[in-house]
Amino acid sequence: MKKRTHYCGRLSAAQAGQDVVLKGWVEKRRDHGNLVFLDLRDREGFVQIVLNPNDEAMAEAKGVRSEFVVEVCGRVEMRPEGLVNKNLPTGEIEVQGTHFKVLSEAQTPPFQVSDENVGENLRLKHRYLDLRSPRLQKNLKLRHQAAQLVRQVLNEEEFLEIETPILYKSTPEGARDYLVPSRVHPGSFYALPQSPQTLKQLLMVSGYDRYYQIARCFRDEDLRADRQPEFSQIDLEMSFVETEDIIELNEKLLRRIWKEMKGVEVPEIPRMTYQEAMNRFGSDRPDTRFGLELVGLNEFFVGCGFKVFEDVIARQGAIKAIVAPQISDYSRGQMDKLTKLAQSAGAKGLVWIKKKDGKFQSTVGKFFDDQKLEELFTRCQATDGDTVLIVADDFRVTCDSLSTLRLHLGKELKLVDTRKDYFLWVTDFPLFDHDPEQGRWVACHHPFTCPADEDLSILFDEKEDQYGQVKAKAYDLVCNGYEIAGGSIRIHQQKVQQSMFKALGLSDQEVQEKFGFFVEALSYGTPPHGGIAWGMDRLVMILCGTEAIREVIAFPKTTKASCMMSEAPSRVVQDQLLELGIRLAPSAEQKQNQD
Ligand code: AMO
Ligand code: AMP
Repeated sequence: MKKRTHYCGRLSAAQAGQDVVLKGWVEKRRDHGNLVFLDLRDREGFVQIVLNPNDEAMAEAKGVRSEFVVEVCGRVEMRPEGLVNKNLPTGEIEVQGTHFKVLSEAQTPPFQVSDENVGENLRLKHRYLDLRSPRLQKNLKLRHQAAQLVRQVLNEEEFLEIETPILYKSTPEGARDYLVPSRVHPGSFYALPQSPQTLKQLLMVSGYDRYYQIARCFRDEDLRADRQPEFSQIDLEMSFVETEDIIELNEKLLRRIWKEMKGVEVPEIPRMTYQEAMNRFGSDRPDTRFGLELVGLNEFFVGCGFKVFEDVIARQGAIKAIVAPQISDYSRGQMDKLTKLAQSAGAKGLVWIKKKDGKFQSTVGKFFDDQKLEELFTRCQATDGDTVLIVADDFRVTCDSLSTLRLHLGKELKLVDTRKDYFLWVTDFPLFDHDPEQGRWVACHHPFTCPADEDLSILFDEKEDQYGQVKAKAYDLVCNGYEIAGGSIRIHQQKVQQSMFKALGLSDQEVQEKFGFFVEALSYGTPPHGGIAWGMDRLVMILCGTEAIREVIAFPKTTKASCMMSEAPSRVVQDQLLELGIRLAPSAEQKQNQD
């Protein structure tokens, strides 16, 4: 076998006249009577090979089909004037093949690698074929470059890259754990880390001062287009810092990434408190590439006589609106679709008021006269042709459903400015969230986040009725409506950590079992510290300009958390279970038999 001299996709006019040895996959074969053209593909791109009938190469190339792996020797030649392909980086040249050898034959593939119109399931089943496509090759290369750049910048900033275990103990980040049974300790389980949170904090306790890792995290949660059950974080932690230091360092990192990977200078990054983000956009990760901001209407509707609104005001919920510009000719069907969308996010209904040619049409005509609707339009700064959409419910539900409508309309009405990326820091998150299902307070971020100094006494004095007002020293970085990073200053005093666990309803025994080692460590000299973690996959998604996280992961899982290619997760033999001391519950066995 001859040694390869060049990657196909890197050839250019600079090599004209040179003899080269190429290896790659046949993308396409075209027979033009006495000439045969082959598009040869490797990781770097394509090049056109020309074979003459008189050559011995031609005889070898007989029967070659798509995805055969071949070796081609030949000379790089400029293409004749008029045959230059401007769409191809190697389009100025072609390789006149002289020797040709099949290294590996291929069955007819289930789809053409370069065909963009193939169903995703088929592509996921044969991921190794899809990974040959320029689309995924480009994405994975970009991911590699981003990872190298992150390492470079953090190394320059004197961070140490330190690995932490995957077989570990539960690290709560709000999702379910993936558990791994122990054979040596039957009945005991490791938990795969939802993040290296406690471990990176322990590295600060140990004095490593600045840590980072591109860390694999595992979360058993409902999956979405931007969520995978296992994903990567650019995880970092720093000692002796405050919020501003962490924001400054991460802006530096962000600027380097955008500058070196997109050639873009990122301007000053705005900041918004959680409360402002919720009030104005109904979301703690607002997409600020367009307006359509929420308008608060509680005061406007006081004493209005419409029971739905009056009830919500009485229970201190929120009535809010967005103004959809110039959709007054939407049909009933289209309005019903918007209503269903709001309902899918929890709203009980959607009030809409259209104004067209000076006339109002609405779902609440029998409750409000035209004068009130006119005042409403003025209050919302809506004009003729616009439609005001109102939801009344608990604050969260109102925010969620209007935010869902806002994002939908932003896209549908093409209001999104896609020319650049919009960044935003969201700060001053609440420390706690009330979980109505469990009837208790849960950590908004995670239980290691430090409360604001002024709210510490609420925690110490266990003023449970005020937990909802406690602010956290937490911050998220948002880009185009995606939360791309989140972090906080941590609790570094044992006493505060214990109060926090108590507020979360953990008994002393539970704290001891789950976090005993961690709480003990805090007592041996813990520096004030804080950090952040970037969603590496989401970052790369944005850099690649895709909306699907699967497009930036080599071997992703489906939204059902399975791998279409290997069919993981899969059953195991009985002996394996026995060895682990595990027996399937009847319900699991029944489910297996159904599948
Ligand atoms: P958090 O839970 O906010 O914080 O996660 C940090 C970032 O990780 C990304 N992310 C995900 N990406 C893909 N799929 C998922 N299922 C997924 N879940 C989260 C998001 C998010 O902003 N230990 C803390 C960080 C810290 O406090 O330093 C943590 O994990 O982009
Ligand atoms: P009804 O009096 O039930 O016919 O409701 C009148 C209008 O109010 C309908 O358009 C409903 O979709 C809407 N509606 C009902 N409940 C709510 C709510 N909580 N928020 C917004 N609109 C609602």
